[in-house]
Amino acid sequence: MRGASFFLLLLALTAGSGSASNCPKAAKYGNGPPSSCAAPTDPNKKPPSALERWFTKDMFNDLFPKANIGWGPNKCWPYSYEAFVIAARYFPDFGTSSPNNVYTAKENNKRDLAAFFAHAIQETGENNAALYSTMSKQDADNCFYRGGFYNWFEGGPTSSLLAPSNPGHSPSDGNVCNTAGRYCATSPQIDYFYKCSDASSGNPAAPYSGCYFGRGAIQISYNYNYGQFQEWLDAQNIKINLIKNPNLVMTSMDPPLAIMASLWFYMTAQPPKPAMHDIVMGSWNSGPTNIAAGYTGPIFGPTSLIINNECNGEDPTDPGGPGESRRIKAFKWFCGYFGAPTGPANLLTCKDMPVKLGDLKYNLSYEPDWATTWKNERCNCVPASYGGLVNYFDPNYYPAKFTAQNENNRQKCIASIYGDPAMYNMDKGSSPCLNYP
Ligand SMILES: *[C@@H]1O[C@H](CO)[C@@H](O)[C@H](O)[C@H]1NC(C)=O
Repeated sequence: MRGASFFLLLLALTAGSGSASNCPKAAKYGNGPPSSCAAPTDPNKKPPSALERWFTKDMFNDLFPKANIGWGPNKCWPYSYEAFVIAARYFPDFGTSSPNNVYTAKENNKRDLAAFFAHAIQETGENNAALYSTMSKQDADNCFYRGGFYNWFEGGPTSSLLAPSNPGHSPSDGNVCNTAGRYCATSPQIDYFYKCSDASSGNPAAPYSGCYFGRGAIQISYNYNYGQFQEWLDAQNIKINLIKNPNLVMTSMDPPLAIMASLWFYMTAQPPKPAMHDIVMGSWNSGPTNIAAGYTGPIFGPTSLIINNECNGEDPTDPGGPGESRRIKAFKWFCGYFGAPTGPANLLTCKDMPVKLGDLKYNLSYEPDWATTWKNERCNCVPASYGGLVNYFDPNYYPAKFTAQNENNRQKCIASIYGDPAMYNMDKGSSPCLNYP
């Protein structure tokens, strides 16, 4: 172990990444973590991921000294190496796979982590631009990009979405929110699958407990994302009611969810969006026009489109503004830290990608088969060209791990027709198929 960390230190120095100890301390909020606690646990006791062989606790602690609103990585709190590796065990391809020949296996593994961490900088980093007024660019970079996993809640440690008395200094502060923190999307279909909890919190300054604002490493938000993550947990035999108690994303430690929810988002396709991981690995199809323009294979650029629809390119100054620019600069820094190539500069942004992902023409969701609802036979669902809540994964565009879900999703769509025909504007008179349950 000693030899290994000595080697890492050398690597870090040669890559010019400096060391965390030279960085000014981040602002801390609240009273800090409890002095002791049980380490986070995995109810499924999954075996270690191969990732743990190369990405060590020393590296995590060196990279994220400002995690948890300035107090540093801590197993009692949402962000720790222990929580990170439990999340990674549920996604054994993360930081371990190498499905392309553009990069070596080691390079692909490193680029995968670099991409996830880069988005964490933009989403929950300290993002202290003042570093650049007191330090050289290189030193400032080495501290700025060590600011990841700083925030827990959208709005940071004094979030305007929470109660003034519980502004976000402890993970449980996110249990309640005001109207602005609701992030509740509604439609007949969303309400059928992922209806927001309207439960009252009893706190006049933050009257809701059904609060779906951004939480965790890359800020999962909105009831339909919490709900889809809950369904995924359910499929892992982890029964947690996130729609009722969304703040469990921050407070659950069996398993710890603050990083897992974000890794789920990073690893999961939501048509018309491929998984960010699959873009970085090159396991995606961008369509003929994009391919002809070079937007294909293992690249970073379009991942910013997935997370926040950002394609403004990289600012010329440092640290530059938030958004895609920050994601790109952070990806470059993490690639430097790990000693991995960033790839061609023009493909670090989605700025010049000719066809944005939502404009590609293929089927995206399962919807009632309108060609058969009038028949005297069971209702059916078929793929449709518009987005919906029940994904259809076109085999020309999505890897087998996703297309394997299609038949289950078709059945889920059919069940929803019988469960609530009105949300599809169907009734037994106009849609005789409903008479054949
Ligand atoms: C989309 O799905 C319909 C069936 O609902 C099918 O007829 C059509 O060929 C599909 N289109 C594509 C591009 O796969």
